[in-house]
Amino acid sequence: MADQYAQSGEDKQATGTPVIRWEEPPEGPVVVLLDQTRLPAEEVELVCTDPPALVEAIGSLAVRGAPLLGITGAYGVALAAARGFDVADAANALAGARPTAVNLSVGVLRAQEAHRAALARGGTSGQAAQAALAAARTLHREDAEASARMAGHGLALLDELLPGGGHRILTHCNTGALVSGGEGTAFAVALAAHRAGRLRRLWVDETRPLLQGARLTGWEAARHGMPYTLLADNAAGSLFAAGEVDAVLVGADRIAADGSVANKVGSYPLAVLARYHHVPFIVVAPATTMDPDTPDGASIEVEQRPGYEVTEISTPQAPALGAGGGVPVAPLGAQAYNPAFDVTPPELVTAIVTEGGAASPVTAGSLAELCAGTRRE
Ligand code: MRU
Repeated sequence: MADQYAQSGEDKQATGTPVIRWEEPPEGPVVVLLDQTRLPAEEVELVCTDPPALVEAIGSLAVRGAPLLGITGAYGVALAAARGFDVADAANALAGARPTAVNLSVGVLRAQEAHRAALARGGTSGQAAQAALAAARTLHREDAEASARMAGHGLALLDELLPGGGHRILTHCNTGALVSGGEGTAFAVALAAHRAGRLRRLWVDETRPLLQGARLTGWEAARHGMPYTLLADNAAGSLFAAGEVDAVLVGADRIAADGSVANKVGSYPLAVLARYHHVPFIVVAPATTMDPDTPDGASIEVEQRPGYEVTEISTPQAPALGAGGGVPVAPLGAQAYNPAFDVTPPELVTAIVTEGGAASPVTAGSLAELCAGTRRE
């Protein structure tokens, strides 16, 4: 079950309402999410009292973005354990809520393993629930640390590739604090450049159909006072042609062993444009997004979402007119193609940046080496 409430002022952090938190009111533990479907209009929190509410929040994109999905999955297992649900069933439902971001199943598994290990040691169900919660909290903290490291490595790479400074960066979807325990992935690099006085412009793709760029990256960039400009996704080509883009920075939902990158649909066309215009295309993602068990891009399952997301515009302000609750922008009954992600082949990726450093050129070998180094740190 999920309840909604507007966040009171004293609960807000300096950086705004937390994207996710665990709370233990007298009625029992809950996972509280910042409802991202309501941004930028309002900061409303979603209080999830059971795993099905979290599964629904994941499916509706109230909570989203690969690293945050992992953290949510882990807290979901802790919630199942603390509330007396069948942990294996809840873990399956959580891990299956969206198929593409590998972080989700990684996070779920991590909390589930902690729970299982506590029981195997002869712990009580209460102790096992505590172990799952501790695992979720550790993942949450580690993701914040990874984010800070990625920002440092990413900025160093940008400075090396673009020695002139004054970076003009194009980004897609939302990869900031809204997807992370810290300040994000690709967005964290742009933010580091801004803080260092080296961000001349952040070009933000609106990211149709759900507008994560316009609604969420715009919201985050404005809060940080970054010089940002929104563009319709199909305006990117003319922007490259005008010589206005120095680098593309995007996140990832799953990186296969060969370096193929699944990310928000529209990333692949940007990689093609970047290659044609000799602009670096840089992917920033934590090690939890690497999936050595998926050999290549063709093996990545790309989530297909409902057609009404394309045939209707749905925003918190739009009146509920269409079947999906939005304003229809296509004839009634129009078919729609709506993959949530696309896959960019490794040869179009200039570098993959993780908390352990950067792999460039991107090959199975350079990635395996980077992952091994990250694990040793
Ligand atoms: O469908 P979403 O909004 O969950 O998609 C998110 C993205 O594609 C992000 O770019 C990706 O998760 C990387 S964020 C670190």
